[in-house]
Amino acid sequence: MAPARTTRGWPVVVRRVTADDKADVLGFATSTWDGWDYIPSVFDGWVAATDGVFLGILPGRAADGGLPRDADGEPLDTERVIAIARVTFLSEEDAWIEGIRVDPRVRGMGIATDLQVAELRWAAAHGARHVRYVTGQHNEGSHRLGARHGFEMLGAVRWYGRNDEDDADPPVAVTEDGGTGSADATVAADLILDDDHGGAWWAAVAVDATFQAAHRLYEPRSWALCGLTEDRFRALVAARRVLVWPVGVTEPSAAPNGRWALAIRRPGPEGEDDPSRPLSPALVAGDAGAVLDILRVIGSGRAGMPEVRLPDPDPPILRDGGAEAWTKAGWGPMPRTTHVFARDIDADHPVPEPDDAALLTYGEEPRRVAQPRRP
Ligand SMILES: CC(C)(COP(=O)(O)OP(=O)(O)OC[C@H]1O[C@@H](n2cnc3c(N)ncnc32)[C@H](O)[C@@H]1OP(=O)(O)O)[C@@H](O)C(=O)NCCC(=O)NCCS
Repeated sequence: MAPARTTRGWPVVVRRVTADDKADVLGFATSTWDGWDYIPSVFDGWVAATDGVFLGILPGRAADGGLPRDADGEPLDTERVIAIARVTFLSEEDAWIEGIRVDPRVRGMGIATDLQVAELRWAAAHGARHVRYVTGQHNEGSHRLGARHGFEMLGAVRWYGRNDEDDADPPVAVTEDGGTGSADATVAADLILDDDHGGAWWAAVAVDATFQAAHRLYEPRSWALCGLTEDRFRALVAARRVLVWPVGVTEPSAAPNGRWALAIRRPGPEGEDDPSRPLSPALVAGDAGAVLDILRVIGSGRAGMPEVRLPDPDPPILRDGGAEAWTKAGWGPMPRTTHVFARDIDADHPVPEPDDAALLTYGEEPRRVAQPRRP
C-alpha cells in the first residue's frame, strides 16, 4: 500500500555521490530488504565508474530559510545525502536506472519522484533514447514511481537454474547419455564463434522466438538489460564472447536436426556477481536441449549453473518439452519473476518536468560525463 503523502516544503539538491558520502548512504541503504541490500558491495565501484552517474539527493533549506524536516517533523542535515540512484549507460542509446533508495525518514515526500526526473535529465544529457529498469514483481512503490513519468511494463524475466536457497554444492550434472558433463575451458574455446560466420548466426538470433519475447534485450552486465543490435552482436563476436553449439558447426542451418544454440558470455564478474559461480550468459538462443549442452560447458558440468534468465511467462524456448528437460537437468524455474519497465526519450516522450520546479535543484547541471560501456 502507498504510504501517506507528506507535503514537502523544502527543496532538494541533486549532485553526484562522492566517496565522502559513503557513511551517510550506507546508513540508510544497507538493510533495505529483510536486513540485506547490495548497495554496500557496489558503492565504491559506482563512485569510481566511468560508465554512469551515481546521483544523490540532499535536503535544502525552505524558501523561508527554515530547516528541512523529515516525515516526522525532525530536522534534516543539509550536508547529508538522503536518497541515491544510479544511471548506467549500456550503449550510446540505452540507459539503465538502478539502485534507487530513499532514506526511510523521508519516504512518501516525493523525493524519489524528483530523483527520477533528475535521472531522466542526466540520461537525456548523454543522448540516451531508451531508459529501462527492473524491479521485483511485488514492489508496488517502484511500479508506481515509474508510472509517474511514463515508464510502462515491458515484460518480465525469470531465473532458471540452481536456486540460491539450495545449500549443498551442486552435483556434477549427468548428461542424457549417462555420462558426466565433459565441460571444461578447452571445450569452451572450441565453441567461440569466429568473425567469418557472425552474419549467419545473427540472422538466426534475430528471428529467434525467445529473443523476440525478450524484446530483443540481452544482459551485458548482471541485472542490466540493453537492446542487442547487429552491430553490437558483431562487436561481441569480435570480442570472442559468442559461443555456439554444436562444436564444429559453422552455421545454424548446418546443425543436425536444426538443434543449434548460442550463448553470449558476459565480460567478467563485477558488483554483486559472486566470483565463485560461473557467470550467467548475457543471452541464450536456439534449441532447449542444445542450450543445456552449452550451459553445461560454461558451468563445467554443474547442474543448474550458471543460472539463466528467460522472458516470462512461457518462454518459447521451453515449449514442446523443453521445460521438463530443463527442470530434470537442474535448470528449473525460480519462484519469483522480475518486472522490466521502459520508457523512451524523444520528441514524443520528453524529459518530464518536476511537480514543483522550485523544489528540484541541481548542484551540477546534467551533462555528458560518462562513457557508454562497450558491448
Ligand atoms: C520505492 C521508493 C524509492 C519510493 O521513494 P519515495 O520518495 O517514498 O517515493 P515518492 O514519495 O516519490 O512516491 C512515488 C510513488 O510511489 C508510491 N509509493 C512510494 N512508496 C510506496 C510503497 N511502499 N508502496 C506503494 N506505493 C508507494 C507513491 O504513492 C507514489 O505514487 P503515487 O503518486 O501513484 O501515489 C522508496 O520507498 C525506497 O527507497 N524503497 C526501498 C528501495 C526500493 O524499493 N527501490 C526500488 C526498487 S529497486
